[in-house]
Amino acid sequence: MNILLHRYDITQEDDFHALPDFNRKATLQHVDKVYKAEITNIIRLTEMEKLFHFRILDPKERDTFSFLPGQFVMLEVPGYGEVPISISGSPTNKGYVELCIRKAGVVTSMLHRAGRGARVGIRGPFGTHFPMGKMKGSDILLIAGGLGLAPLRAPIFHVTENRSDYRNVHIMYGTKDPSQLLFDYQYKQWERIDGVNLSVIVERADDTWKGPVGLITKLMDGMKIVGDETYAIVCGPPVMFKFVCNQLGKMGVPMHRMFVSLERRMHCGMGKCCRCNIGSTYTCVDGPVFDYWSVMNLKEAI
Ligand SMILES: Cc1cc2nc3c(=O)[nH]c(=O)nc-3n(C[C@H](O)[C@H](O)[C@H](O)COP(=O)(O)OP(=O)(O)OC[C@H]3O[C@@H](n4cnc5c(N)ncnc54)[C@H](O)[C@@H]3O)c2cc1C
Ligand code: FES
Repeated sequence: MNILLHRYDITQEDDFHALPDFNRKATLQHVDKVYKAEITNIIRLTEMEKLFHFRILDPKERDTFSFLPGQFVMLEVPGYGEVPISISGSPTNKGYVELCIRKAGVVTSMLHRAGRGARVGIRGPFGTHFPMGKMKGSDILLIAGGLGLAPLRAPIFHVTENRSDYRNVHIMYGTKDPSQLLFDYQYKQWERIDGVNLSVIVERADDTWKGPVGLITKLMDGMKIVGDETYAIVCGPPVMFKFVCNQLGKMGVPMHRMFVSLERRMHCGMGKCCRCNIGSTYTCVDGPVFDYWSVMNLKEAI
């Protein structure tokens, strides 16, 4: 177990002096529990991504299922396998579990072929979460690239639903081209919220695009923030973390105030199979959310 990580274990944020969960009891408690669920709605977001609404069949279980922004579930497509997927909806929504899924391979392609009423299994929620409690009273930068908007959407819901707990909120999102933008139907809604600023950038414009063109770091150029009073959440491809977090560092944001979500291939989601480890750190239970200081101390994390 990585001692340095435990000093900064954000799952302990509300109970800092508690002993770390060395036997992973908290995680293992709900590991065998498979919620039977069905697809109730599917929204095509782009050529490759769809947003699925899954309703847990048992009404009692549906009411008790809860998660924190940044956590993920293991989604089982019977007969095909199980994949880790970040929860993309609002933590206060008890009606259904929202997952934004890219068609990548065997399991996710099968899901993309499924229709309403198709049955799946859901285990979880698993993993660490963004420390939204700690962030109260600060300015918040929510930065995503590509599919990274899927995990970022849960903290976006959280800060917009608890608007008075946070100061200025800046949402920054970038993709390769306009056809890959996720959740574009929600941008106007987010922009209308008092104190929330949204900027979207693409690397390659087309005839329809009227906004800025370039890398996501361009959106941060000239931005005035007070580093010690700001928290940042960064989701996206690992290559983006380095550039974005370096720029945040130059803007004065300390590394322990930047949070990223690390994705590795996973199998069990419960710290048993060693598929997801980086050294002695398991991204399924010690992560996927880490502060950037911890990531910098993990060899080959990004
Ligand atoms: C914590 C976590 C959260 C995730 N959240 C989401 C999400 O919100 N939405 C989403 O669409 N995907 C998400 N992923 C990635 C998703 O789990 C993979 O795309 C999925 O497991 C692929 O399974 P498959 O059977 O369809 O593809 P496979 O047939 O297993 O593989 C197809 C291709 O996908 C690649 N691949 C498999 N797993 C991963 C992975 N973990 N990361 C990157 N590439 C992978 C393989 O290398 C291969 O090239 C997440 C992964 C993790 C670990
Ligand atoms: S996915 Fe099995 S140990 Fe992390």
